[in-house]
Amino acid sequence: MKLWGGRFESETAADLAGFQNSLSFDQRLWRQDIRASIAHARMLGNQGIIPPEDAGKIIRGLESIAVDLETGRLAFPAGEAAVQLEDVHTAIEGWLVERIGEAGKRLHTARSRNDQVQVDTRLFLKDAIAGPDGVDAAVAGLQRVLVQVAERDGELLMPGYTHLQRAQPILLGHHLLAYFWMLQRDRERLADCLRRADACPLGSGALAGVPYPVDREAVARELGFARITENSLDTVADRDYLIEALADLAIIMMHLSRLVEELVLWSSAEFGFVELADAYATGSSIMPQKKNPDGAELIRGKSGRVFGQLVALLAVCKGLPLAYNKDLQEDKEALFDGLDTVRGSLRVMASMLATSRFRGERMEAAARDGFLNATDLADYLVRRGVPFRQAHGIVGQLVRYCLEKGCRLEELSLDELARFAPEGAVAEDVYAALDLRNVVAARKSPGATGDEPFRQQLAAARRLLEDKAGG
Ligand code: ARG
Repeated sequence: MKLWGGRFESETAADLAGFQNSLSFDQRLWRQDIRASIAHARMLGNQGIIPPEDAGKIIRGLESIAVDLETGRLAFPAGEAAVQLEDVHTAIEGWLVERIGEAGKRLHTARSRNDQVQVDTRLFLKDAIAGPDGVDAAVAGLQRVLVQVAERDGELLMPGYTHLQRAQPILLGHHLLAYFWMLQRDRERLADCLRRADACPLGSGALAGVPYPVDREAVARELGFARITENSLDTVADRDYLIEALADLAIIMMHLSRLVEELVLWSSAEFGFVELADAYATGSSIMPQKKNPDGAELIRGKSGRVFGQLVALLAVCKGLPLAYNKDLQEDKEALFDGLDTVRGSLRVMASMLATSRFRGERMEAAARDGFLNATDLADYLVRRGVPFRQAHGIVGQLVRYCLEKGCRLEELSLDELARFAPEGAVAEDVYAALDLRNVVAARKSPGATGDEPFRQQLAAARRLLEDKAGG
């Protein structure tokens, strides 16, 4: 059933009909479309805009369509039949009229597909982010794995890096929890996006509002929106909430991409810090010895894809005059693909990390080479009265001395350690200061890698996960 044939003399050209058809992808909105139509019909009946009996028939008709779609008794057509149907709104309204006849034709009173598609998409987004299978739950799932691995292997020593050069020793758990907090911000951003999206568009009509005594608040309440939108033109033209959502998804992917990059590096023979489970690695068709981190690399690659969807939607909206333009139909594939890609990536990421084996001996060996305790030797001298800048210079000379000798700082004799320092600045306790475990433990400031602040951080992370589950 075409919704708009009346003023046309000829049929739509087949190529344009195919080109503008959105049913193949917007059918994913069917649950939201039916829910919103039910709320709309109920309001129309209550307000006396359509006969209450017709509203009842519409609601029952829509409910039966929902049941049939859910159970597979009814399915969206593909191919030529789909082209005739145009979009999900047309398909459902057509089925309704087939089922209940004349009354079905009253559903679209005081409504346009322009406000209808907006209510569908907002409902869909809320569920896709905050629902049981939503992005937020998937992010929390990965946070949980990070906390579990940090609890299990967190005390392992490893080199911390700047410029990808070994810098100072840290705990593996501290490194892993860095990602926990990134993901925590991601969840806050998603919640913030939903707060702004939480306004009901219905009643905005095609662009100017509707000349019927609609009760927008009642519809908003029934659909679980916090409020109604304020300006009908803005409402049908606005895709900010989808751009925000895609920006948030892009940031999640950027975080995942950093994490998988470390897995790729760490699983190389050069690092050897981690071994991926066989189930989360793949082989080579030519090199029998290979074990490749394809899953990690794909997540890194797919981040580019989600960034692309964000830029695509920004570009679609740029320069569009008010109010609705069909360009806006391009929002849905970008959104769906972004959501699917992020959820898929988060799931694989969580399993891949949970099943990885961290090689403590390799990480610790790397932390022992490369003078990672050099800063702490300088700090030792500072405690013995040497100004930091001078201490830095002394330790620099000692490092060069060690490089020539081919040894570590802690392998030097007390005489050698004292050679470049002021009289009496170096004593026997210097060896304790150089011990890597002590170097880590000494970092007691809040948020530091030291055992104590690390335990507090772990407890705070665990609490956050529990809070969210409870509330
Ligand atoms: N399929 C359309 C979309 O996604 C629905 C709105 C159509 N409105 C219109 N005036 N053609 O944007």
